[in-house]
Amino acid sequence: MPDQIIRSATAADLPAINAIYNHYVLHSTCTYQTEPETIEARELWFASHGVKHPIIVLERNDEIVGWGSLSRFHPRAAYDRTVENSVYVHAEHQRQGVGRAILTNLIKRAIHLGHHAIIAGIDAEQEASVALHARHGFTRAGYLKEVGYKFDRWLHVIYMQLTVKHPDSSLPAHAPR
Ligand SMILES: CC(C)(COP(=O)(O)OP(=O)(O)OC[C@H]1O[C@@H](n2cnc3c(N)ncnc32)[C@H](O)[C@@H]1OP(=O)(O)O)[C@@H](O)C(=O)NCCC(=O)NCCS
Repeated sequence: MPDQIIRSATAADLPAINAIYNHYVLHSTCTYQTEPETIEARELWFASHGVKHPIIVLERNDEIVGWGSLSRFHPRAAYDRTVENSVYVHAEHQRQGVGRAILTNLIKRAIHLGHHAIIAGIDAEQEASVALHARHGFTRAGYLKEVGYKFDRWLHVIYMQLTVKHPDSSLPAHAPR
């Protein structure tokens, strides 16, 4: 078994996070970003995630092989307990359980932080991501046709959603945190 930990990301992890992500910017439709993320933009992204919106990394044998995050889904106040998740696994470490471990950890953190809904916006070509989220209980919530354009073709987005259960089931869904 590889030596593996999942921990909160630090500023020192941003180059590794960016390298994993930028591979997919250049080679995949899993992100609709078309130009590589700069380290300056990544630093702003990191600074904008407070304690309610964690960024985590999975380190295996001292190498960051994947990362995940919970971001605000929408700036309007009533969306406060809804987050959008991201999971990116190093291209050379796919299909080794990294994505599963990161998503499981993000769901636990969402519950702990009192979030209520997790949304995944997934390009419709990304069967691995759809399967990963379905395996964790996400269900299909919507389909947006031809909302992205990359690599000379129109792209469609599948929205998947998980409503998370607070461990104290007596807590009403609208309870303040
Ligand atoms: C999608 C992604 C996160 C999956 O991570 P991974 O570490 O490769 O996946 P895991 O080994 O943890 O597999 C977990 C489950 O995901 C699904 N899955 C993963 N890769 C798959 C593939 N190539 N085809 C179909 N299902 C796949 C399976 O259900 C799998 O469970 P199983 O192995 O028991 O069948 C990874 O491929 C990735 O980073 N892709 C690019 C970025 C992306 O699309 N991120 C999601 C958008 S937020």
